[in-house]
Amino acid sequence: MTYQNIIFEHAEPGIYVLTVNRPKALNSLNAATLDELASAVVRVAEDTDARVLLVTGAGDKAFVAGADISAMQTMSPLEARAFSEKGTRVMQAIETLPVPVIGLINGYALGGGCELAMACDWVIAAERAVFGQPEVSLGIPPGFGGTQRLARLVGRALAMELVTTGRQIKADEALRIGLANHVVPGSQLMQRGLEMARLIAAKAPVAVRVCKQALHRGLDMGLADGCVLESSLFAFAFGTADRKEGMNAFLEKRAPQFEGK
Ligand code: CAA
Repeated sequence: MTYQNIIFEHAEPGIYVLTVNRPKALNSLNAATLDELASAVVRVAEDTDARVLLVTGAGDKAFVAGADISAMQTMSPLEARAFSEKGTRVMQAIETLPVPVIGLINGYALGGGCELAMACDWVIAAERAVFGQPEVSLGIPPGFGGTQRLARLVGRALAMELVTTGRQIKADEALRIGLANHVVPGSQLMQRGLEMARLIAAKAPVAVRVCKQALHRGLDMGLADGCVLESSLFAFAFGTADRKEGMNAFLEKRAPQFEGK
């Protein structure tokens, strides 16, 4: 698939960068853009050498300013349902990628943009980033999982406030409520993202993947079942060559050489 609406780069070994690239429409998500995101995410999922995916928006104004309002303007309820389900599939595909996904929020992350940010495992926000679910101003609720992920991330009461008022929040508040892990000057955003990605890429790849699996699958379970899952994945990691290498390197006081096996 050739891409018209996104830029998909294998920036460094194991590190992919996906940029939503419709800056004239503030990187808003239409069906074609969602299809391209889906295709790129499958390519990352199928690359066993992939380590990290960074997701950002083109230009310095918007990460993603939401679903494309012009495209939604003429949709019937049935078409809107199909569009919502398409967006939801993309968000789930990102969330369930076997490798960590870091959102680099370079500007407005509204509606579908906030939903895309929340589908990432965690977020670094530029100082100028703005988050929000303003859909109620358009006569609709969020449609790509916003009500669900926001409530799970920041709690029911704050999520309820944000989706029913449409109040937009700046990066410092996003940091305080747990929507962003870090806030950095916009000029440093990609650099910081790449630094974090390199930290992850330098660790034992199978261990990183099972950490993501344990966290994500465990969050949908009770604590006891989640701990059983963790024990199974812990045992699984003991079968890897990288586990022997990591422990040998520690005991021999040298840096480990991981091979992803
Ligand atoms: N869809 C389509 N086009 C959009 C867009 C969107 N979500 N957001 C911005 N644009 C377009 C504008 O129409 C404008 O196009 P033209 O130059 O052709 O007129 C261009 O991008 C620049 O936007 P503005 O002139 O509005 O820029 P601004 O700096 O004055 O305002 C903004 C920036 C506050 C982000 C404002 O654009 C805005 O409020 N955008 C809409 C945000 C929104 O409501 N998002 C939710 C969409 S619904 C949704 O996402 C549903 C879901 O959950 C799936």
